Amino acid sequence: MIYIDRPDSKQPLFHVQTQNVSYIMTVLPNGKLVNLHYGKKVSHTPYLGDLFQNYDMQVGSSTLYEQGSNLTLDTLLLESSCFGKGDYRVPSIYLSWEDGARTSDFVYESFLLHEGKVSPKGLPSVRDENLQCDTLEIILKERVKSVTLHLFYTPIDDAGTICRFSRLINHSEEVIQIHNMQSINMDFSHSDFEQISLDGMWIRERQMHRQAVRKGIYTIDSKKGVSGANHNPMIALVSPETDATRGDAYGFALMYSGNFCGKVEVSPYEMTRVQLGISDFEFKWNLSPGEAFDTPEAVCVFASNGLNGLSQNFHQLINAHVVSPHWQYKERPILINNWEATYFDFDQKKLVALAKEAKHMGMELFVLDDGWFKGRNDDTTSLGDWTEDAKKLPNGLKGLSKKIKAMGLDFGIWVEPEMVSENSELYKEHPDWAIKLNDRKPSYGRNQLILDFTNPDVIENIYEQLNYVFKQGNVDYVKWDMNRNFTDVYSNYLPKEDQMSLNHRYTLGLYALLERLCNAFPNILFESCSSGGNRYDLGMLYYMPQTWTSDNTDAVERIDIQFGTSLVFPPSTMGAHVSGRPSHQVLRTTPIETRFNVAAFGLLGYELDLTKLSSFDKKVIAKQVSFYKKHRKILQFGTFYRHTAEITEKPTVWSVVDETKNQFVIGYYQKLHRPCPPLETIKVMGIDEDAVYEVQSRTQYHNIAGFGELINPFLPINLKDGGILQSIINNRYLYALEKQSFLQQGDTLANVGLKLYAQFAGTGISDKTRNVGDFGSRLYVGSRRIDL
Ligand code: DGJ
Repeated sequence: MIYIDRPDSKQPLFHVQTQNVSYIMTVLPNGKLVNLHYGKKVSHTPYLGDLFQNYDMQVGSSTLYEQGSNLTLDTLLLESSCFGKGDYRVPSIYLSWEDGARTSDFVYESFLLHEGKVSPKGLPSVRDENLQCDTLEIILKERVKSVTLHLFYTPIDDAGTICRFSRLINHSEEVIQIHNMQSINMDFSHSDFEQISLDGMWIRERQMHRQAVRKGIYTIDSKKGVSGANHNPMIALVSPETDATRGDAYGFALMYSGNFCGKVEVSPYEMTRVQLGISDFEFKWNLSPGEAFDTPEAVCVFASNGLNGLSQNFHQLINAHVVSPHWQYKERPILINNWEATYFDFDQKKLVALAKEAKHMGMELFVLDDGWFKGRNDDTTSLGDWTEDAKKLPNGLKGLSKKIKAMGLDFGIWVEPEMVSENSELYKEHPDWAIKLNDRKPSYGRNQLILDFTNPDVIENIYEQLNYVFKQGNVDYVKWDMNRNFTDVYSNYLPKEDQMSLNHRYTLGLYALLERLCNAFPNILFESCSSGGNRYDLGMLYYMPQTWTSDNTDAVERIDIQFGTSLVFPPSTMGAHVSGRPSHQVLRTTPIETRFNVAAFGLLGYELDLTKLSSFDKKVIAKQVSFYKKHRKILQFGTFYRHTAEITEKPTVWSVVDETKNQFVIGYYQKLHRPCPPLETIKVMGIDEDAVYEVQSRTQYHNIAGFGELINPFLPINLKDGGILQSIINNRYLYALEKQSFLQQGDTLANVGLKLYAQFAGTGISDKTRNVGDFGSRLYVGSRRIDL
């Protein structure tokens, strides 16, 4: 809903509202557009103008905006902030004019109300299918130059979200240089906030960090050319008392996959400014007469019910309005991926054997990872030449795909289309298609260079090659990888004066290619990957409904990674695989059941050599697969709850509840077992308190070797630890862990909780003892009893 008071005046009031959120702005007599309130929904009344608050005197040594007025821009809550007129906080738009001057001053001109969603051109954005919304466009005009700045606001009712982006139009005769143009400038009158960011690196992505905001400027950014794993393009601000279920939480996320920056500034007046947009480092855009420049879209998400409310809004936004309608709420297949099973060392026989085992265990999609194309036996070669390696695939992709499909599996393939190896036909023919400098040796990442996607000829070539691959393999799924960050940033295609726009133009080129491919192959399920989660952002999710969360498949590390990721991204977007033992990333050995219990809260896959598993593991995996299939809808698309605001030393608990509140699944994960652990209770979240639920622990199996010789007192025979007999028994009989079931009223589950069996406490074990152990975990499934 968008209310506009005094629409014909020079000082209208705008109230952009969703079911639970209000965003209110007005225009001051000096023409400045200011924010009056952003947060919990308030009624639209005639008194909202009184929300304006400022110093009614000249504040200290401040610079006055206009002679005769006490107002300084430095203390206003500005919707767009410029440089040169007394706002000394970081500007959201910074331009230079042809004469070298850098001052700009945008004031209110008019507004437009559009039916439906208005989106930035050539960039991914919240979709308008299934949306009942209007867009408010507020037009600001530069006081002197013939240039307008257009601010767009679209409320997304069911997701507590306001979408924002800006457009700059050059109506003048001069070329304007844009040095910085952020997607949002969000000012708050106080600094009573803590900020949350998702920071990390390769195999340790999106760790949730929370800290008090401080005076000065805090910046997260990427200069890597992709959004990157060092900081996700999102910032949350929460009130200090906000926890998982209570308190105000604001989340700002950018729908963009290139260099970005996010800033939180606390000014000397204790005011907080948040900005998010394309990075102002290494950016310059020349805007010629008659041209327009659009920023990427940023989504501003608010919830007054803590971090769970915030992430539920984000998840709703992504599931219902970002992911392509073709894939919305469509259950995703359980896959087997050969990467950690074979790396580059495979042939068709090996792949087929792996696929057969996968099929046998109930999996649904076979994904052929890196190494299938000509001469690619390691990572030094062949990127750019997307034709089959005849030694590994004698019957080509067509032949392999046919065999896989004949087994009843779907067929998927890995590609890394943005890259080129110097050792490739493509590079030999077109050395100038790589991003590199002509007078220096390039730096390498994984021995490879990046193709210049600012050049339409490059994109055309890659489109044609992919078209061949996808058709040859009749592929159902594509893993789109991108394994290096930018260096030697230079395009042989762009003129000198446009070099500083390379990364943005690259990103636009990538989006154009993805748009074309998604339209040409609407049935292909794309999964985006960038050395794991180096490009996990809303921009990529617009084209590719799922992302490879991290190359780290260790279950313990994945708890933290998936916990942080879930702040913004729903389980339906998180690729999560069960891999081998020990973990290839941290060399840790975790129980196969825990590997599954963590991966189950994402898009389940297996990435290990199934042909070499023990019969215990094979049987257990088959049971996991059938459990996942039974609960897949809720595990992928259920409402997600974290049971604590942060990961602590205590077991981590999270859960999903289906829309009807008929079903829930709880995940419980312990890192290290403590001696004589305390009794534990899990309060169930998001359920119907008037209903009765039956709750059961998932039947899990334990490798009896884990007991070593401790098992002997309970057996009529003596088992040697590590002996053949122990292994035979282990593989023949599945030893089920304790089974706990409850019949309970919803209000009791919610307010008193599930009383779990006590954990092993050093002496003896019974069928009412939870032997969770180090890296142990449980799943509890609840179903509404309708017969009661
Ligand atoms: C990096 C990815 O994250 C891995 O899953 C795998 O696909 C390799 N690339 C293949 O080179």
